[in-house]
Amino acid sequence: MEIIITPDPAAASREAARFLAALIRKKPGAVLGLATGGTPVPLYRELARMHREEGLDFSGCTSFNLDEYVGLGADHPASYRRFMQENLFSLINLQADRIHIPDGLAPDIPAHCAAYEKSITDSGGIDAQVLGIGSDGHVGFNEPTSSLASRTRIKTLTRRTRSDNAHFFESESDVPHHVITMGIGTIMEARAVLLLAFGENKAEAVAGAVEGPITASNPASILQMHPQAKLYLDEQSASKLARRDYYRWVFDHKPGWQRDR
Ligand code: PGA
Repeated sequence: MEIIITPDPAAASREAARFLAALIRKKPGAVLGLATGGTPVPLYRELARMHREEGLDFSGCTSFNLDEYVGLGADHPASYRRFMQENLFSLINLQADRIHIPDGLAPDIPAHCAAYEKSITDSGGIDAQVLGIGSDGHVGFNEPTSSLASRTRIKTLTRRTRSDNAHFFESESDVPHHVITMGIGTIMEARAVLLLAFGENKAEAVAGAVEGPITASNPASILQMHPQAKLYLDEQSASKLARRDYYRWVFDHKPGWQRDR
C-alpha cells in the first residue's frame, strides 16, 4: 500500500487527480471505476478543472460506478446517478453510452448484477478504481463481514452507514436499507485502487485497514493484498496511523520517475 498524507482534502485530491490524468493521457481508452459520497467531490472538481483548463480528454474513457441505492431512480435527488451527473459527468466529456452505474430500479437484481460484472469484463477491466471508506471500513457498500471474494450483488446497509449517509436525504428514515454494490472481489481486480479518506471520523477505519489484520470486519483491509493500492489521506484521517512518519518520509523522497505510478 502506498500511504500519501497531505495537509488537506484539496491537496490529496490534486494528487489523486494527477495520477488519473497521467493514466488517461497514457491510455485514452482507460476504464475508470468511480465512487460517490462527500469524499470524491474535490477530486471530481479537480478533474473537471483539468478538462476545462488543460484539455484532459475523457471522450475515449469508460466508467463504472461502485454502487447505487435500490429503489431510487436516476431523478431522485439522492441517487448516485444524479450525484455523478451533477458532480462530474455534466462537467467533462465522458460519452453517455460509456457510463455505467448499477440501476436501482432493476426488476431482476441478480441478473442485473451479473450483467454489470460482464460489462466490466467486456470493457477490458477497470484500470483505476476510486474508493472512499466508510467509518466502519466499508468500501463500495461492502459492509463489515462481506465476503472478501464477493461480486456485484445486493447488500443491506448497517445502521451506522444509514446514519452516516442521512445528510444526503431529508431524514434518516428515507435512507434505503438495500443497495447494489460491486463486490470486494470485483474491486480487487482493478489494476490500481485509489482510496481517499478525509476527517477524524475515518481515522480508526484507516488505521485498521492499513496496520490491522486483513479481516472482513474491516473490508478495506483487503487492499493490503492489492499490488497497486494508493491511499490519499488528510492529517485527520491519518492521525491514528502508528507509522505515519515513515509514510511521510517515503512519499517525500520518491524518485521523480515514480511519481505518477
Ligand atoms: P463519504 O462516504 O465519502 O460520504 O464519507 C464514503 C463511503 O461510505 O465509502
